[in-house]
Amino acid sequence: MNSAPWWKQATIYQIYPRSFFDSNGDGEGDLPGIISKLQYVQELGVDAIWLSPFYTSPNKDGGYDVADPRDVDPRFGNLDDAKKLINVAHSLGLKVIVDVVPNHFSDQHIWFQQALKAGRGSPERARFHFHEPNADGTPPNNWISLFGGPSWTQVEDGQYYLHLFDSSQPDLNWENPEVVSDYEVTLRFWLDLGVDGFRIDVAHGLVKENLLTNHPDPQGISDALRLDVSMDPEIRYALLPTVPYFDRQGVHEIYRQWRKLFDSYKDREVMAVAEAWVHPPVNSTRYVRSDELHQVFNFDLLDAPFKADFLYDVVTRSIDLMDSVGALPTWALSNHDSPRVASRIGEIQARALALFVLALPGSCYVFAGQELGLPDGDIPDSSRQDPIYFRTKGAQKGRDGARVPLPWSGESAPFGFTSGSPWLPLTDKWKELTIEKQSVDPKSTLNLYRTALKLRTDHLIDQGSITWLESPNHGSKSDSLLAVRRGNVSIYMNLSDIAIEVEITGKLLIVSAGIVDARDGKLTIPPLSTIWVHH
Ligand code: GLC
Ligand code: CA
Repeated sequence: MNSAPWWKQATIYQIYPRSFFDSNGDGEGDLPGIISKLQYVQELGVDAIWLSPFYTSPNKDGGYDVADPRDVDPRFGNLDDAKKLINVAHSLGLKVIVDVVPNHFSDQHIWFQQALKAGRGSPERARFHFHEPNADGTPPNNWISLFGGPSWTQVEDGQYYLHLFDSSQPDLNWENPEVVSDYEVTLRFWLDLGVDGFRIDVAHGLVKENLLTNHPDPQGISDALRLDVSMDPEIRYALLPTVPYFDRQGVHEIYRQWRKLFDSYKDREVMAVAEAWVHPPVNSTRYVRSDELHQVFNFDLLDAPFKADFLYDVVTRSIDLMDSVGALPTWALSNHDSPRVASRIGEIQARALALFVLALPGSCYVFAGQELGLPDGDIPDSSRQDPIYFRTKGAQKGRDGARVPLPWSGESAPFGFTSGSPWLPLTDKWKELTIEKQSVDPKSTLNLYRTALKLRTDHLIDQGSITWLESPNHGSKSDSLLAVRRGNVSIYMNLSDIAIEVEITGKLLIVSAGIVDARDGKLTIPPLSTIWVHH
């Protein structure tokens, strides 16, 4: 048995509540819907679920605009449903991680409403970042919102407030002790309800520097922060550390305090994972120092090309980096903010990469639908919901494609997700991708994940780190072959579109696609495929 804390090498299944399963026919997923499908999640073989926000919210940014962080939005159910969800998950052996969004509230939060009424100079306004315009009437600085447009919005009496994201998401002022203590109340609230951990939204953003100073290149930093804008890496890497609102030293003090609170819950091993996009990468290790958080997301695979040298670099760097602070890396191929991996690199490649990554040390995050090999949905502009689409006036399409509801069963859209009309359209093209179909097809992506997750637990979790057998820097037969050994298992990923023969003996545990030829101490790894071999 593994004596390490449960989260160290957990596989964590991210559920976007609005898109998971609709229990009442209003077209949107909800907590009772999740409860009714937890058995499916458990049978997948994951250790925990992470729930994206389900709190009271006007839902301008998919619930990441929180109007009451200690209540459930009616569209998702109520607090009893949340409590029940946690209990049912626990009874199935699943841990529960909830999202917290400490960088900002919704403008519908009572505090912001009070701030608007109370006026300039009031303690109510001091919970946010309200400032006077410049002499010429322009905003207090030139920062650009991460969702496009200025990051300041003016209120009736002339003051501006800061919002790194949508204008409906005013940033909180973390120098204000009231903000600090209110957040502790929120963390305790969910811990007292029974959760096992938190995913901390924009964890690197809470502290701002030079709030009243222009940045010399606001468009530059705004582009540098976007994965979908290509930029000379040197220029990007020079710009990123200058972002005055991300990864400032002050955030770590907040997490030291939070860690004390987590550790005061002696009845469980509370964990927290930071969403922190930081540069240089070594800065990410600060979030997982022993008196801070437990994990930090590693986003390097979210936009990685399916190329051996690139993936080799990401894997070695991620492991080494975390090792330097005694931590293990995390891995994610998809999430609710980025294109789905099957669309980005191709379905068969996504299977190969998933099987490779599931063998690595550390924790794996799986975005619901990823286990089905789901591509991004095709969304007509008239159905789009993401504020990014609106704030950029359509220049950026936004993230709705990854958020299309799951296809559960049946022969036509919306595939059992809802008895009503789904909040984003599903396509009839997903007929072969439903959970119902894939469950009974031994070759489906769903069964690949199920088998791999079981084998991972049985053969890999206790086996320490990896050693490279084949890599672009390690006597590889092909520049398209990556192979590692972990414990008694060798993992080979063939990234080329021709089969590659390797000399190994052992028992084939799993293959991501194609048929493995075995004879005379040799195995052929099918094109675009990963295999695990037990020795
Ligand atoms: C995080 C969330 C994203 C949200 C943003 C603002 O990046 O993952 O969905 O829009 O924070 O809260
Ligand atoms: Ca519903």
